[in-house]
Amino acid sequence: MTTASVTLEPLRWWHLPQVHAIEQVLFPGDCWSVEQFWSELAQPTRCYVVALDEDEVVGYAGLFLLPPDADIQTVAVGWDHQGQGIARRLVSDLLDVADSAGATHTMLEVRADNEAATALYRRLGFVPISTRPRYYPDGGDAVIMRRSRPAPSAVTHER
Ligand SMILES: CC(C)(COP(=O)(O)OP(=O)(O)OC[C@H]1O[C@@H](n2cnc3c(N)ncnc32)[C@H](O)[C@@H]1OP(=O)(O)O)[C@@H](O)C(=O)NCCC(=O)NCCS
Repeated sequence: MTTASVTLEPLRWWHLPQVHAIEQVLFPGDCWSVEQFWSELAQPTRCYVVALDEDEVVGYAGLFLLPPDADIQTVAVGWDHQGQGIARRLVSDLLDVADSAGATHTMLEVRADNEAATALYRRLGFVPISTRPRYYPDGGDAVIMRRSRPAPSAVTHER
């Protein structure tokens, strides 16, 4: 199910208070500060997108982009809005940006025990390529995933 009323637009500084509120809930003990988000937005190699339900921020995602390289930095959707296809839209939007800019592949890292995020990324064409044991401060393992840019003739991913 998707929520038609949810729209995507570039993440701007005025979204940050709501973004940070979601961040604190979803990543307790490991969330980015508002200053870290400001720093991300200030860098020309970053592309962030926000999902809005009218004026309410319901999700966000970020990309590092320096073709031919690209890297998904983060993706998050508020609890109340999960399971509605919003993360798929957010990440698909960033992958379109990466593909259009000439990135030949997009990488990411995800906690090995994060089944929802891993399923999301697989759904969008990422495949696991390696594991980093005890990568996270709490000892959790990271899985590195990679998606290659589809051939020009390939059907584009779902929106
Ligand atoms: C992971 C997360 C971003 C998914 O957001 P979402 O908007 O609920 O995801 P979507 O509704 O777009 O789902 C897209 C796909 O992801 C997978 N998925 C999403 N939630 C899932 C869950 N709870 N269990 C299994 N698969 C799930 C499914 O494959 C789904 O596709 P389908 O509905 O066609 O089967 C969200 O759960 C979240 O914000 N989690 C906390 C933050 C986080 O872990 N971020 C990732 C850090 S790497």
